[in-house]
Amino acid sequence: MDLSDAIHARHTVKAFESGRALPESAIEGLLKVLHNSPSSVNSQPWHYVVASTPEGKARIAKSTTGSYAYNEPKVLNASHVIALCMRTDISDAHLNAILEQEERDGRFLIDGAKQAQDRSRRSYVDVHKYELRDVPQWMEKQVYLALGGLLLGAAILGIDATPMEGFDSRTLDLEPGLREQGYTGVVLASFGFRSEQDFNAKLPKSRLPRDEIFTFI
Ligand SMILES: Cc1cc2nc3c(=O)[nH]c(=O)nc-3n(C[C@H](O)[C@H](O)[C@H](O)COP(=O)(O)O)c2cc1C
Repeated sequence: MDLSDAIHARHTVKAFESGRALPESAIEGLLKVLHNSPSSVNSQPWHYVVASTPEGKARIAKSTTGSYAYNEPKVLNASHVIALCMRTDISDAHLNAILEQEERDGRFLIDGAKQAQDRSRRSYVDVHKYELRDVPQWMEKQVYLALGGLLLGAAILGIDATPMEGFDSRTLDLEPGLREQGYTGVVLASFGFRSEQDFNAKLPKSRLPRDEIFTFI
């Protein structure tokens, strides 16, 4: 699907067809989007839990009960559910791992480039650590950026999707042991095939007028 068609075709799916699985190639497309998502100073402060089995989805769905029960079927009936998670801390080990990966990927072409990159990235991290004191918010922004790419990518690939902030993050974190690994859940996204009960498919899109949201100078 081209960009213009995808923008108009995509919507938040409110009901999925249970038992219908997306082809592996489609999921691979989504994982590629996430893997290649941009982030500030290439910080990549994320982790993604991908549930495709009934057991995996049931584990995620433990976080969509009680006041979040309206989202439970969107987790259980989807083909795949991705929990987009952020790091709880930006550690030295993580910064070193990024730097070493950049070297393996051949990004340092001249003497001193590696050290310069490390210094520059750490200076940004320090601004967020000590001056702005907003490291968690900064990392979370990167995850939302990945969500944006993921939703647009899904639309271009013709995959139905639902982003969800309506879940209990403590329950989600405890289920796959995210906290012990230094992560916490930020947002869920389900993917699959819309069902006949997806009322949102039949509704027109609603956005504020263009002249209210754009200023051309
Ligand atoms: C970050 C985020 C969280 C959302 N959380 C939920 C949710 O928990 N459940 C749900 O049904 N829809 C959720 N939505 C869908 C929005 O309500 C929807 O994107 C918005 O109304 C615009 O409609 P559209 O996506 O169909 O264009 C969420 C969307 C975003 C971007």
